[in-house]
Amino acid sequence: MNIPPAPPHHDDLDGSLKEALGLLSRAVRDRRSPWRTPTLCTVGLDGWPQGRTVVLRAFDVERRCLRFHTDRRSGKVAQLGAEPRAQLHFYDSKRRVQLRLWVNIEVLTQGPEVERSWAAMGPMARRCYMAVAPPGTRSQTPTDGRPEDWMAAAQASLEDESAPLPPGSGQESLTVLLATFERAEWLSLAFAGHRRACFDWTSGQMRSWWLVP
Ligand SMILES: Cc1cc2nc3c(=O)[nH]c(=O)nc-3n(C[C@H](O)[C@H](O)[C@H](O)COP(=O)(O)O)c2cc1C
Repeated sequence: MNIPPAPPHHDDLDGSLKEALGLLSRAVRDRRSPWRTPTLCTVGLDGWPQGRTVVLRAFDVERRCLRFHTDRRSGKVAQLGAEPRAQLHFYDSKRRVQLRLWVNIEVLTQGPEVERSWAAMGPMARRCYMAVAPPGTRSQTPTDGRPEDWMAAAQASLEDESAPLPPGSGQESLTVLLATFERAEWLSLAFAGHRRACFDWTSGQMRSWWLVP
């Protein structure tokens, strides 16, 4: 493993947190950031952990709140209904840093936040919500979930955003996930020695400490 020299914030708790928050903010703007596509882990209805990749859409540093988009009918939404506590995992292989966030997730299926997200979405992104059957439904054939008979109409609306969307445009499926973290764990790998730090807001104010990596 090619481990880099220690970065300036390596032995600095506040500096490590600042770096982590900065990387989250950057990931929203930078499509190529590895932190743009974290793994969201929920607790399955049967107790099995469920991890999957999601795209980080926004980050409000003051509220410690990250925003994601998903399909209302997807498994994760039912899982979050039963257990809103989840974990987000980020890894940057170039910087050799990992971040784990302990989050409480609010699921928004309607309202201004969802409408704003839909309005800001491009045609390709909207396509993800056009499946007729819920994500995860078994199919006898390879499919992206959209029925053949209205693919043409959907395609027209993709090419011309002013064209009316066919029924089942996807808007009713778009769901916003607001993930607020109350604990963060940072792991920084370096040749001189790895560092692991914990940041915790559960007491109402931020407390931080080092952990043995
Ligand atoms: C690069 C990438 C980005 C993805 N982004 C999202 C996303 O933003 N939201 C989402 O719900 N699923 C996203 N997915 C699909 C999920 O990983 C997952 O397959 C899907 O949401 C179904 O998960 P579930 O059945 O556990 O709810 C993405 C997958 C990949 C590979």
